[in-house]
Amino acid sequence: MKPIARHPQSVEDAADILRTGDVCAFATETVYGLGADATNSDAVLKIYETKGRPRFNPLISHCADIDMAARYAEFSPLAKKLAASFWPGPLTLVLPLRKNSGLSDLVTAGLDTVGLRIPGHETARALIAALGKPIAAPSANPSGKLSPTSAEQVRKAFADAVPVLDGGPCSSGLESTILAIDGDTVTQLRAGALPRDAIEDVLGHPIATAAPNAAITAPGMLKSHYAPMSPLRLNAAAPNPGEAFLAFGPQPDFNGPLLNLSPAADLTEAARNLFSYLARLDAEGRAVIAIAPIPDTGLGEAINDRLQRAAVPRP
Ligand code: TXA
Ligand code: MG
Repeated sequence: MKPIARHPQSVEDAADILRTGDVCAFATETVYGLGADATNSDAVLKIYETKGRPRFNPLISHCADIDMAARYAEFSPLAKKLAASFWPGPLTLVLPLRKNSGLSDLVTAGLDTVGLRIPGHETARALIAALGKPIAAPSANPSGKLSPTSAEQVRKAFADAVPVLDGGPCSSGLESTILAIDGDTVTQLRAGALPRDAIEDVLGHPIATAAPNAAITAPGMLKSHYAPMSPLRLNAAAPNPGEAFLAFGPQPDFNGPLLNLSPAADLTEAARNLFSYLARLDAEGRAVIAIAPIPDTGLGEAINDRLQRAAVPRP
């Protein structure tokens, strides 16, 4: 058993933990991240150890502002436009890495690109600014488990062995949208909290989607990734007896374990509730969690993506 972590009580406290080369979880507007100094390979290694992440996948580097981001990547006019439109916010840009930027090779997994994001959560930006360097952070969950959207979920997921800077519940509840920028080409590598139509509105044209086996694949794209314990039955018009039910829209008449992602059928509310409600229904220990159909528009693209991954049978 690992000892119980001393949880930081302030941004400065958390920055101290990161400065000594340890990991510290912190809130972003999307999900909680398991952070480490992105320029310190020993610290970044601890992210992989803590998560039990089986292979070295590139990590997102979180920056405090555009000036910091510009020290690590080259911004084409197109990248600048997207950054100006959506940062701070739930968008990760995969851009050409600046040589000798000082970023750990473990963060980029040796690629010549880097995933950058300026989080929308003020405390997250304050923490990065206090450290003065980017914070590498995947979602703060053991590999293969649901992403946490509250400090309590992070503490539980790691048996309280990981320090957590409590930043309240995450406002969006889904991971960032990831776009790769290559010259004039924009490819969506992962659907996420920034809906595709908002991006296409700014660009004025449709964006491509990465093929499932594209050379650059995000591990969020591994087929079974957000796997809770109980199998999921998607697009269920109604729950069967014995199942738990995750509803969306008008409240169904059902006696079993029931949570409603959004009685008003609001996709923003549903995204915010998705991971925590799945975790709560999973804790009911039912054989199956039935899930109501979710429209595929706007944030529904990312919600359905996460549900499909969570529904893939595990070995
Ligand atoms: O909302 C989020 O994005 C959260 C919060 C903590 O910021 N983070 C997150 O990290 O979801 P993670 O590690 O679960 O997912 C990061 C994704 C991975 O799928 C990784 O493959 C991709 O970003 N990625 C990072 N750098 C990349 C690169 N240079 N090329 C391609 N994909 C990259
Ligand atoms: Mg993750």
